[in-house]
Amino acid sequence: MLERLNIVPFVSVDNMMKLVLATGVERFLTDLAAYIEEDFRRWELFDKTPRIASHSSDGVIELMPTSDGVTYGFKYVNGHPKNTRSGRQTVTAFGVLADVGNGYPMLLTEMTILTALRTAAMSAVAAKYLAPKGARTMAMIGNGAQSEFQAIAFKAILGIDKLRLYDIDPSATARCQKNLAGLGFEVEVCTSSQQAVEGAEIVTTVTADKQYATILTDNMVGPGIHINAIGGDCPGKTELHRDILLRSDIFVEYPPQTRIEGEIQQLDPNHPVIELWQVIAGKVPGRSGERQITLFDSVGFAIEDFSALRYVRDRLKETGLYEELDLLADPDEPRDLYGMILRAAKVAPAVQQSEVLQ
Ligand SMILES: NC(=O)c1ccc[n+]([C@@H]2O[C@H](COP(=O)([O-])OP(=O)(O)OC[C@H]3O[C@@H](n4cnc5c(N)ncnc54)[C@H](O)[C@@H]3O)[C@@H](O)[C@H]2O)c1
Repeated sequence: MLERLNIVPFVSVDNMMKLVLATGVERFLTDLAAYIEEDFRRWELFDKTPRIASHSSDGVIELMPTSDGVTYGFKYVNGHPKNTRSGRQTVTAFGVLADVGNGYPMLLTEMTILTALRTAAMSAVAAKYLAPKGARTMAMIGNGAQSEFQAIAFKAILGIDKLRLYDIDPSATARCQKNLAGLGFEVEVCTSSQQAVEGAEIVTTVTADKQYATILTDNMVGPGIHINAIGGDCPGKTELHRDILLRSDIFVEYPPQTRIEGEIQQLDPNHPVIELWQVIAGKVPGRSGERQITLFDSVGFAIEDFSALRYVRDRLKETGLYEELDLLADPDEPRDLYGMILRAAKVAPAVQQSEVLQ
């Protein structure tokens, strides 16, 4: 069969949902976690750069590129906390995987759903190495779009089955609780962050607010807990009181990016942090004591998206859940790009050449 060089597989939102449903959310998250761990173990061979951000007073638009030398990937993602008021998502995304050898895209996919899945899988991978052994209770502060994914990943990968939910908007908590019904969680709805963290071994903060917020104050954080801080991911947008950071061992994805965007933007630029890949690769220990406070200062890094893109690409053949997108101009003679337009005008003679070429 002739290779059709113009065609790029495209995974729409509809097909992504079908892929998630056909796979099962828990298996999808577990598979994705394995891809992330595999890429974190070969961290050193990736091209790495802090993501390229374009800020405005309303939010941020970011490009997140990386490559393992064989395959290149990038994600376009935005973060606009006010969006939910106009019926839009806070975070939307799409991504591309390309062949480093010839630069041709190999996959274009929606990544709004995929980002929620990869963020949750990443959090659970970090917690696997950092949370207290046998943890079963997680507080989740912020019950928006990311929240159910986080809960399900922590159940699938760590066995978390007790959730303590809090959101400033009770309708968000009610929706989260409803969506998680029947999945084996014991859910307690709380009326404050303070109440939510009581008795929790893991605390996930996943709120959206474009400001220095204080979702957790120092007195709420007892010894031995693991904090999975997701929502502080932009300059001027944090969730934890600085004093918590000073008492914690801080684990990060890529320090040059996290120092700009993470909770640690509140600290001295030389404050010691541990790179999570080194823990996953067995080079440095994760949790090392019962009273240790571990903090995963998550901002989301390009390699996680690369893993997610790789996973989706690997599932395409078996599932067929994609469309063929006529994305790349492919003239018969590669240098005859203009001639391709002229030939197209002959195929459609009713259209005036001047109109075609306008
Ligand atoms: N680290 C990462 O990799 C990563 C990935 C995706 C999203 N995020 C971030 O995670 C956050 C949540 O994303 P989302 O898509 O779920 O957003 P969302 O807008 O759907 O939900 C956020 C929720 O937080 C609640 N909230 C706001 N302030 C609060 C407060 N002070 N206390 C309790 N609840 C509060 C809101 O009511 C809302 O329900 C965003 O800040 C986003 O930028 C991070």
